[in-house]
Amino acid sequence: MLKLTVTDIRDAAPGVRQICLADKGALLPGFDAGAHIRIDVPDVGPREYSLINLDPKRATQDGVTSYDLGVRLEDDSTGGSVFMHALTPGAEVMCAPPRNDFPLAESPNPLLIAGGIGITPIATMAAYLAGQELPFDLHYSGREQGSLAFLDALKKFTGQKFAANHLTTHYDNTDTALDLGALLRTISPARDIYVCGPGGMIEATKAAAAQAGFDAGRVHFELFARATPKTGDVAFEVEIASTGDVHTIPADQSIIEALEAAGLDLMYDCQRGDCGICQTDVVSGIPDHRDVVLSDDEKSAGEVMQICVSRAKSERLVLDI
Ligand code: FES
Repeated sequence: MLKLTVTDIRDAAPGVRQICLADKGALLPGFDAGAHIRIDVPDVGPREYSLINLDPKRATQDGVTSYDLGVRLEDDSTGGSVFMHALTPGAEVMCAPPRNDFPLAESPNPLLIAGGIGITPIATMAAYLAGQELPFDLHYSGREQGSLAFLDALKKFTGQKFAANHLTTHYDNTDTALDLGALLRTISPARDIYVCGPGGMIEATKAAAAQAGFDAGRVHFELFARATPKTGDVAFEVEIASTGDVHTIPADQSIIEALEAAGLDLMYDCQRGDCGICQTDVVSGIPDHRDVVLSDDEKSAGEVMQICVSRAKSERLVLDI
């Protein structure tokens, strides 16, 4: 674990803060575009935040002296963004070194799509590509004008002087709202798509890409937030097939959280429903899928589920654990 100090905090957009962390100028582990760090939030647990680099000339792979994060204060925060927004310069945080579950492949002219604070890994990809003088198209969507963080920095390496780097902004409350179906119909299905945003945007991108003839493997995605409990969520039971033990999953806990609290050792990573590492076979019962990993057909089949975010439509699930 790294012990880092908050060295700078700036407002990046309404409700979004750019937070800079460092260790007295010491060299910190490097990172590639798309990487995140996992911060240990006291009394809450680990929370992942993408690392931002907005300078195409800054090489980050071999080590850096600071990490920049962009954190939006979530209306339905489970504690992570509230903690991050309460930080002040000089505060200390513990975090794990960078890790990248959303790497940029070497493919020509990628299409980058960001929704809201999902811009953090996408902007870093754009800066990297600009630094390599590689073309890209970036579509950045938000609720309204003035809501898009880091827009001024993005404009410095896209547009007129950088003819190969296209930035298009979209605002939900205007006729510029992002129409993924229309966009992807104009894009060659040989290009790779990188999308980071809320679950609905990722699902819509996957669906529009499939309809436009993209192979599923061309769509790379990362959710920017953990799934939070929905109104109406209720407790249900999980039976462990290997032992017959039955555990109650409370309405405000995930299956992983409840089973770990009961002493089970489980394999997982993102806890957002986008990496697939926690996928578990369903022996019986009906899952309530809330991930972005499985296809619609796989969700309908109900044979596997992501136990970090998905819940149950039946009173009990029997899981192959
Ligand atoms: S831990 Fe990543 S999908 Fe569940």
